[in-house]
Amino acid sequence: MAEKIIMMAEQRADTHRAPAIPPTLETPTGLLSDRLARPLHDLRISVTDRCNFRCVYCMPKAVFNSDYQYLPHNDLLSFEEIARIAQLFVAHGVEKIRLTGGEPLLRKNIERLIAMLAGMKTVSGKLLDLTLTTNASLLARKAQSLKDAGLQRVTISLDALDNHTFQRMNDVDFSVDDVLKGIDIAHQVGLGPIKINMVVKGGMNDQEILPMARYFRGTPYILRFIEYMDVGASNGWKMNEVIPSAEVVSRISAELPLTPIAANYTGETATRYRYADGSGEIGLISSVSHAFCSDCTRARLSTEGKLYTCLFATSGHDLRALVREGRSDAEISTALAHLWRAREDRYSELRTSQTEALRRSANKVEMSYIGG
Ligand code: GTP
Ligand code: 5AD
Ligand code: SF4
Ligand code: SF4
Repeated sequence: MAEKIIMMAEQRADTHRAPAIPPTLETPTGLLSDRLARPLHDLRISVTDRCNFRCVYCMPKAVFNSDYQYLPHNDLLSFEEIARIAQLFVAHGVEKIRLTGGEPLLRKNIERLIAMLAGMKTVSGKLLDLTLTTNASLLARKAQSLKDAGLQRVTISLDALDNHTFQRMNDVDFSVDDVLKGIDIAHQVGLGPIKINMVVKGGMNDQEILPMARYFRGTPYILRFIEYMDVGASNGWKMNEVIPSAEVVSRISAELPLTPIAANYTGETATRYRYADGSGEIGLISSVSHAFCSDCTRARLSTEGKLYTCLFATSGHDLRALVREGRSDAEISTALAHLWRAREDRYSELRTSQTEALRRSANKVEMSYIGG
């Protein structure tokens, strides 16, 4: 089955081979660069705006209730449309694609899309880094088929080890044990290196920082602490609920000494530390206390095919319209180049200089729509 899917993907790749980028749009390196000299490196694709969790910091129940209008199916990009756009991004230098949501494993036959993307080669001739962020609710069931389709690794969200705290965070009574089962099965089938993302919300789960560190230390899994962000317009974010990464490090170091280590690559979201006793590493994602916009190489494609050049953008560029109007690959490729070259977003760097009122008044898109 997987072989058949991959064959179909290869045939597709032939019919949709990306065109050469018009020479006038090239930088001296041949790749795109935005107004702040940031290259295009990552593409994050949201495949659904739905999720079966109601994490308080992302899809609070008060907003995402039975009246909430999710996108109708026809508005979603089809897998063929996603693969075509992705191929054009790859031709512009993208080396990593992350599938997100909502919860990406809720999208039917996601394995088919994975197989279509898995065979793509980057401009440097490497295989694409193809990964996915999941809440793990369907992972135990799907890990093997995801691996067979060509997915390389997964990143799993887990905000606490204490079941009561975790269920207060996800707000749908999903249990810690089920996430841990998903993590182990993903590891067994080879979907590693696996990263575990914990959003830390002060007063809600910060007492879980140390238990999480103790649990994941010495395992093959890399735990990353994420500062709670003011993404979207519905989570009621307050600065005093953010636990700065420096505090996370000092709380852990008091018991388990940590030493800073170099980034894996320029533009990595996480700052890395390793345990002094050699029992592994952790990451800190400090978008609030230490913005990393200056190296941000990420483009985001929403579920309905809009290109967002920042997680905190208020509007996107409608690529689906170009696709459905019948524009050629060359035309869409040129449009992508123009959009990236015009990019000057750096929201997190500007956040602290904005007033609370300004932050709230902006009509920022939700994380569940644009992807984490
Ligand atoms: P790796 O390739 O495994 O290092 O993944 P990554 O860190 O690029 O992506 P991941 O989805 O694991 O990012 C973790 C979290 O960091 C996300 O869920 C967001 O909360 C946050 N994040 C990722 N990208 C950005 C970004 O461009 N801006 C901001 N402000 N936060 C981001
Ligand atoms: N702050 C920080 N990270 C968030 N995520 C969602 N909402 C927020 C927020 N308000 C990220 C988390 C989660 C992923 C799916 O999205 O990393 O694991
Ligand atoms: Fe769903 Fe992830 Fe948002 Fe939680 S953080 S509601 S699991 S998309
Ligand atoms: Fe990139 Fe925007 Fe995040 Fe800054 S705030 S790192 S520009 S996505």
